[in-house]
Amino acid sequence: MTNKQQHSSRTIMTITIAVAAVLVVIVWPLSMMGKGDVAASASDDAELRIQPVARVEMQKAVVKSDGKPRDGATIYNTVCTACHATGVAGAPKTGDKAAWAPRIATGNAALLMSATNGKNAMPARGGAADLSDAELKAAVDYLVGKAK
Ligand code: HEC
Repeated sequence: MTNKQQHSSRTIMTITIAVAAVLVVIVWPLSMMGKGDVAASASDDAELRIQPVARVEMQKAVVKSDGKPRDGATIYNTVCTACHATGVAGAPKTGDKAAWAPRIATGNAALLMSATNGKNAMPARGGAADLSDAELKAAVDYLVGKAK
């Protein structure tokens, strides 16, 4: 390569980099403008899609309380079974002693606390906000009883 050729190829490279920089800094943000709303609603959709399947289905299944407290088995069968029967999202499976033993070892109060406030993928009150404290406790006792 002659000096002149070297010089011109360096010029071409410099121009290429400059153009790329302009594209990234100016054109790309411009092309994103006005897409803000689309992006936001797309992420809402994504959130809906990654929700535990059960949370959506459960809402149909929950038996509305008619004033009388529901017993643990009823609540388990309408709310908790959605995840705990199959172990969805890492839920300890109903009756799986090995999965429950370390949790049971933390004590009933701790388990009830997790069930009340939620824990990781476990929604507060299993996602059924209308459960009374007594109903929730009955459901926890029922679930724990199955694994003893
Ligand atoms: C949407 C799915 C889902 C539903 C519905 C659900 N659980 Fe869970 N549950 C989980 C998951 C996931 C965990 C494991 C949480 C962890 O330790 O990461 C869990 C854990 C638990 C634990 C153990 C908490 C601990 O401290 O180790 C208890 C107790 C429990 N659930 C009770 C219930 C009861 C009672 C119901 C019904 C009222 C219920 N769950 C409904 C997903 C669910």
